[in-house]
Amino acid sequence: MAQHNGDRPDWNGQSGERWIAHQARLDARLAVFGEAAIEAAAPAAGERVLDVGCGAGASTLALADRVGAGGQVLGVDISEPLIARARALAPQHTPALFRVADASSAELPEGAFDILFSRFGVMFFDDPTAAFAHMRRALKPGGRIAFVCWRGAAENDWVRLPMGAIKGIVPPTALPDPEAPGPFSFGDRGRVARILTAAGLTDIAIEPFDVSVPFGEGATRDAAIDNAVKMTFEVGPLSRLLADQPDDIRDRASAAVRAAFADRPGERSVMIDGATWIVTARNPAS
Ligand SMILES: C[S@@+](CC[C@H](N)C(=O)[O-])C[C@H]1O[C@@H](n2cnc3c(N)ncnc32)[C@H](O)[C@@H]1O
Repeated sequence: MAQHNGDRPDWNGQSGERWIAHQARLDARLAVFGEAAIEAAAPAAGERVLDVGCGAGASTLALADRVGAGGQVLGVDISEPLIARARALAPQHTPALFRVADASSAELPEGAFDILFSRFGVMFFDDPTAAFAHMRRALKPGGRIAFVCWRGAAENDWVRLPMGAIKGIVPPTALPDPEAPGPFSFGDRGRVARILTAAGLTDIAIEPFDVSVPFGEGATRDAAIDNAVKMTFEVGPLSRLLADQPDDIRDRASAAVRAAFADRPGERSVMIDGATWIVTARNPAS
């Protein structure tokens, strides 16, 4: 079957704006994954950290708390609106700084950082090996990498369930190329290892981290399910798939996705399983 790249978000366009609209809920949903990656990074007081694809900056600020006033965290993101949101949310006197930049090519201070970190921000590079080789140069010799990324779509219920529900309603499209830039492009463990090795990194460890997270929340269970459906239609792969569909198809898809979410546990939430890799690696000492 032909393959396409249609899963690619436009971070300076609608994807960025919608991420901002749902930023608080998305941060609540993603916090547990970011915390696991921060534990793997083990930032110490006084260290310097580069947060790649920092978005609205939640992980950058959490890292800033860990490195303290004697350290520094630079959050870089290609999205102007998301960096504007990050700056607006940052408290005064934080050791976090934010910069609009394409991390795969922007000039970064050489040999400056103890840690290269990312919460779901490294799966969108056209040439991930070249991007990591470029970013690696910003690390000190012996510096470390820690990031969290999604495993495959088939393992992630937040996309598997709604995608399954709309089968037969939305006309089938070509299968996305699993290696094309997009949220699931790092799903294959062997591919991630090959990218990091080719970029010159060592001590690569790729560990599964699975957890159930509140996907939708509300004052009542019904409101939570509605919220989960709304977010699914506005952010992420399904929203891009449904964007150009006529209203009758979107309505039928919405009812089917609602029924799929209603099967999931949760009181004032819809609990959905997320499957990720926590990846660590090291810049060689010399
Ligand atoms: C899934 S979002 C995650 C945002 C944030 N890390 C979080 O967890 O909330 C992916 C982020 O990567 C950013 N991004 C994508 N390609 C990038 C690139 N080449 N350089 C810098 N940031 C990039 C996007 O703008 C977006 O903010």
